[in-house]
Amino acid sequence: MLQGQINHIFLSTIKLTTSQENRKKNMTWERCKLSFVNIASKNELTEGKMKGITVNGISILLVNLQGKYYAIGNICTHMACKLSNGSLQGDIAQCPCHGSRFEVKTGKVVGGPAFKPETAYQVKVEGDQIQVKA
Ligand code: FES
Repeated sequence: MLQGQINHIFLSTIKLTTSQENRKKNMTWERCKLSFVNIASKNELTEGKMKGITVNGISILLVNLQGKYYAIGNICTHMACKLSNGSLQGDIAQCPCHGSRFEVKTGKVVGGPAFKPETAYQVKVEGDQIQVKA
């Protein structure tokens, strides 16, 4: 292999590494910029109910468990059905399509066929407003 080719490969590797690092930094920075946004008022979601809401282009499942609110991804990690069209049994949301079950407090899968967890979002209440960090 010619020295010029070796230099080209070496420089390409450095550029690729640098662009990957910059992308990671940008993703970290983007996550830092996330802020809480109003997604519903408390009276919209009674205890034991769940609701699908889109925030900043992200479909989120908002759940009221005994007056405490939780939010996880609403798109099933198995084949993308909306969990909000499924059912809620205690703290478990069940997908309407093939029955995958997710713990709404953490997004953890507790029953397949899905195996990838849902993203869990931070939730807080300000006055009458439920807010999610997304
Ligand atoms: S799409 Fe949810 S279990 Fe298949």
